[in-house]
Amino acid sequence: MSRSPAPAPISLLWAAPDDARAISALHARLFPTPWDSDAIQALIEHPASLALVAVRPGRDIVGFIIAQIAADEAEILTVGVAPDRQRGGIGRQLVEGAARAAARSEARRVFLDVADGNTPARALYAACGFAEIGRRKSYYTLPGGARDDALQLARDLAPA
Ligand SMILES: CC(C)(COP(=O)(O)OP(=O)(O)OC[C@H]1O[C@@H](n2cnc3c(N)ncnc32)[C@H](O)[C@@H]1OP(=O)(O)O)[C@@H](O)C(=O)NCCC(=O)NCCS
Repeated sequence: MSRSPAPAPISLLWAAPDDARAISALHARLFPTPWDSDAIQALIEHPASLALVAVRPGRDIVGFIIAQIAADEAEILTVGVAPDRQRGGIGRQLVEGAARAAARSEARRVFLDVADGNTPARALYAACGFAEIGRRKSYYTLPGGARDDALQLARDLAPA
């Protein structure tokens, strides 16, 4: 009986401005409202940003996370993993990598918003120790026009 080969290992690297186009293309596969490459490049280049990519050999980007730090707080703005690499631990590595980097930048708490109906993302954040601290009713408009609540999640960071 043949078994499919194990997926190639990934590395977590700081995102570079040149990664913006590939991140934008992957973002467009994952979210109904794509972020264009210029907007992503501006985020990567912003001094308060923290952006990581999960790459296969050859800098083939299979995941990304972008956060921003203000004083002692960090906010995760977006995170995504290529559909064919999901459920392989990459999302968790990205969130934990960003949390470590935020802690080294002296952030003490990390926040994010997630749609109530986004089961995979909510499960990922729960697995990474985030807890609900608030809810914005009907905050998101979904494809087709339905509305969904935004859950506000937070996690404390230990000093690095
Ligand atoms: C959310 C997302 C980033 C998760 O990435 P991932 O690489 O699949 O996550 P991981 O494999 O690291 O999963 C970590 C844990 O999260 C939970 N989880 C992740 N996806 C899940 C799913 N579809 N169903 C249930 N639990 C899930 C599990 O507890 C999992 O641990 P386990 O596999 O050991 O059980 C990915 O589904 C994605 O890119 N979604 C589209 C973009 C998106 O919604 N981003 C978040 C916006 S707030």
